[in-house]
Amino acid sequence: MIVNDVKEILIGKEELNAKCRELGAMISKDYAGRDLVLVGILKGSVVFMTDLMKEITIPVMLDFMAVSSYGADTKSSGVVKIIKDLDMDVEGKSILIVEDIIDTGLTLGYLVEYLRARKASSIEIVCLLDKKERRKVEIPVKYRGFDVPDEFIIGYGIDYAERYRNLPYVASLKEEVYTK
Ligand code: PRP
Ligand code: MN
Ligand code: MG
Repeated sequence: MIVNDVKEILIGKEELNAKCRELGAMISKDYAGRDLVLVGILKGSVVFMTDLMKEITIPVMLDFMAVSSYGADTKSSGVVKIIKDLDMDVEGKSILIVEDIIDTGLTLGYLVEYLRARKASSIEIVCLLDKKERRKVEIPVKYRGFDVPDEFIIGYGIDYAERYRNLPYVASLKEEVYTK
C-alpha cells in the first residue's frame, strides 16, 4: 500500500479543490476576452491541470510540454532538454504555464526564457506548490497555491522515483523510503 509510505498529509482533497476553484475564478476574470493557452509541464502538472481547468469558465486552449534535465548535474546547471515542445502556434496568445511545484526554479526559469521566442502576448505562471527555501532563481509567479516545507513532497501528480503521483492529496514522504 503506497499510503504506508506517507509521513504526513499536508494538503487534503477539500483544500485542493477549494484552491482550484479560487485560482480558476481569478484566471477566468483576468483572462476574459483573451486567447488563453494553458501549458502543462509533464508529468507533474497533470492532476492540477485537470482539476484547475474545470474551474475556468472562459474558453481555453490546452497544450503540454515535457522537459528533462541534462544528466545528473543539470538540476543545478538549469539547462533542461525539451522532450516535447508545444503543438500549438502561440503567437499573439496568452500563455499560462501550469506547474505543480517550484523547487529551485531552474525548470521554469529556463522554460520562460525558451518560450519568449514564440511571440506570445504574455507568459505567466500558475503554480500549486512553492518550496521557497530551495529557490535558486527568482521566478515571477502570477498565481500561487500553497507554500510547502523543504521535505520530499508526493501526491496530486508529484512523484518520488515515478511513484505516488496518484495519491489524491499532497503529502510528505517517510524518510525510510528514500534512505533505504
Ligand atoms: C519536478 C516538478 C517541477 C520541477 C521543479 O518535475 O514537477 O516540474 O521538478 O523543480 P525545479 O524548480 O528545481 O526546477 P520533474 O523534473 O521531477 O519531472 P516530473 O514532473 O515528470 O516529475
Ligand atoms: Mn515537473
Ligand atoms: Mg519528478
